[in-house]
Amino acid sequence: MEPKITAQEIGARKTETEAKIVAITAYDFTMAKLLDEIVDILLVGDSLGMVVQGEPNTLGVTLDQIIYHCRCVSKATKHAHLVADMPFMSYQISEVEALRNAGRILSEGKAEAVKLEGGVRAAQTVERLVSTGIPVMGHVGLTPQSVHLFGGHRVQGKTDSGRESILQDAPALEDAGAYAVVLEAIPADLAKAITERLGIPTIGIGAGPHCDGQVLVSTDLLGMDDSFHPKFLKRYANLSESVQAAAAKFASKVRKGEFPTLEHSF
Ligand code: KIV
Repeated sequence: MEPKITAQEIGARKTETEAKIVAITAYDFTMAKLLDEIVDILLVGDSLGMVVQGEPNTLGVTLDQIIYHCRCVSKATKHAHLVADMPFMSYQISEVEALRNAGRILSEGKAEAVKLEGGVRAAQTVERLVSTGIPVMGHVGLTPQSVHLFGGHRVQGKTDSGRESILQDAPALEDAGAYAVVLEAIPADLAKAITERLGIPTIGIGAGPHCDGQVLVSTDLLGMDDSFHPKFLKRYANLSESVQAAAAKFASKVRKGEFPTLEHSF
């Protein structure tokens, strides 16, 4: 088995010298076990609000839920670096609350780093967490916890002022001590400029080919929801079809009394 990947190793992986960083979300033990040896980072994303809980956005995900899912994922995570999202309102109110909540994600959830959204506005909190010994991954561009401010899950950085603020956000996180930053749903040329400017790696989702790594939601890349087809997504499997075909075959055999046979009996 490959040795466990650390935040320090991820932080040093700029792509001129290294293979790009691969990150996929996981929310349970079984998926984590399948992915652990393949990826560099397993992310317990608050996207679980949408893909596990069926909500329209990430806002209802609680700290206890992140901790629960992270703990499940951690039991199968022997190789990948394990990161968990700080949910909405678990880090914005005060640095002390952020510290207490990030601490729980590490101590109870067994994560090795936390990810939180926001650039300049989150920098002081990032600094406080890092100086206390908690590695932090940043997240700028389309920050889904601000969905109502953005008027939907929309591409960011398309106007001059939007572009300028993201250009300030990403370096603010590096200066605050973040070891990597997710760039979500921004134009490829903006992601390229940020990637060239930063000494820490960028991990893109809907941010083009120039980032130091890429992240996708596991259920999206596996094609488990055929109603979701944003431009940034490439499906590498069609599991919704495979799952339904297998379940339909099972249902038909059971209905006809053809399963189980004596071969599957005690
Ligand atoms: O919640 C999540 O899954 C994420 C990734 C999409 C980056 O934040």
